[in-house]
Amino acid sequence: MARQIRIFDTTLRDGEQAPGASMDMAAKLQLARQLARLNVDIIEAGFPISSPEDFEAVSTIAREVEGPCIAGLSRALPQDIERCWEAVQHAQRPRIHTFIGTSKVHVERRFNKTEDEVLQMAVDAVELACSLCDDVEFSAEDALRTRLEYLRDVVEATIEAGAGTVNIPDTVGYATPWQMYDTISYLFENVPNIDEAVISVHCHDDLGMSVANSLAAVKAGAGQVECTVNGVGERAGNASLEEIVMALYTRRDEFDTETGVNTAEIINTSRMVSTLMGFVVQPNKAIVGANAFAHEAGIHQHGMIQDRQTYEIMRPEDVGLTESVFTLGPRSGKHGLRSRLEKLGYAIADEEMEEIYERFLSVADRKKRVYDEDLHVIMRQASTDTVAEVWHLERVQVTTGSDITPMGLVVLRRNGETHTMLGHGNGPVDAVYDAIGSIVQMEGLEVADYDVRGITRGRDALGEATVRVRWQGDEALGQAASLDVIEASAQAYLNAINSLLLRDEARRQAGEEERPDRQVP
Ligand code: KIV
Ligand code: ZN
Repeated sequence: MARQIRIFDTTLRDGEQAPGASMDMAAKLQLARQLARLNVDIIEAGFPISSPEDFEAVSTIAREVEGPCIAGLSRALPQDIERCWEAVQHAQRPRIHTFIGTSKVHVERRFNKTEDEVLQMAVDAVELACSLCDDVEFSAEDALRTRLEYLRDVVEATIEAGAGTVNIPDTVGYATPWQMYDTISYLFENVPNIDEAVISVHCHDDLGMSVANSLAAVKAGAGQVECTVNGVGERAGNASLEEIVMALYTRRDEFDTETGVNTAEIINTSRMVSTLMGFVVQPNKAIVGANAFAHEAGIHQHGMIQDRQTYEIMRPEDVGLTESVFTLGPRSGKHGLRSRLEKLGYAIADEEMEEIYERFLSVADRKKRVYDEDLHVIMRQASTDTVAEVWHLERVQVTTGSDITPMGLVVLRRNGETHTMLGHGNGPVDAVYDAIGSIVQMEGLEVADYDVRGITRGRDALGEATVRVRWQGDEALGQAASLDVIEASAQAYLNAINSLLLRDEARRQAGEEERPDRQVP
């Protein structure tokens, strides 16, 4: 019988640590629900002690998302573990995931401790976690640069202390598949109590080998793989969930394993993550890229017509890639819209439907055909627009051309008062941002990143602008979509500015002096 591999999704924790990827509460909950539909085994919902927002997100997901086990991350410190338990305790199946660095550089340089002291901290952490929660995972951070005999001792001791899962992370993406295979095999051969726990693997993609390394670990006996949708994560990202799941499925002859993942939800989940985080999936990305199942060369197309298997090793429908059976447009009704949205993973309360339908109609009237990608954007906007506004965009107008300096006229409203400004810049967006900056008067406000893309098909595609803004040591992401990219850019900038101002106000009210450092590995 095929061996069952648990899929541990960390998009909401490690994935969200990617620069610029932060999501608000509504987005996190929406994604967690979609991960449950994807049927992953474990959702790592966040790092509760890192910020009040993370705590809130983990505890809301624990209360509201049914199905998968809900895990929270904690350092091997009592206050982290207790806070983590507070956040996950209401889940149907809660898990505390605690970790400590075990490589020489972590033990000696980061902690200034001995190996024995760190081992004792790991054991104490697991024992405390086990006294609170039935399901405890321990991670030996930077395991692939840890002295092998010491790693063996840490794994044995933490299993002895009660960890039901022990994770072997390649934190810095340093391993090769051969090294990973040998390391996991070594642990299976040398840890006497290894059968009492599930051995997990968690790989980063710094050298582009994270998926290969994860698969090598499975081949050597690992029973859990930690990964993220679209491979998002710190630096070069984490191992990609869709690649691992489809590799194990497509090459089951090689691995003789199975996962519980509902692969037909892969594309929906990938698109949702891309929209919520504002990260474009590269067209040639395996499994979920726009070209992953496209055949351009005539010789390939000819072969495909004779027999799909000539150039296709997976069926597009297995990952959920099917053309919509009916197209949505200005004449579509609420039922049709709702049913399509539900297929895309959105649970819509009755009272929200009217507003979403209005948004849909305003796009459909201008666009005529509304695609799934448009619907993801409409849903994203519906959730972000509920955030309170400080500044409201009344109007934007630009004058540009090949031989004039672009100018942008912006009208904003705050507390009922209208402010108008004309800005100049190197391009129309620059000119509009100049005008907005002059109105809002936030000293040191800086655009760290700006991106605009056509997200749907055709010349009348919706354009989505994503902008990351910094101010007074804080950072916010703003997104907006419109048929007019200048309007989308202005709105995205204002959304980010509004988030910064609202957070600043909330901190002021809470009397906080500075933002807590997330201190995430
Ligand atoms: O990369 C890493 O080591 C981690 C651990 C906390 C599992 O993210
Ligand atoms: Zn990681």
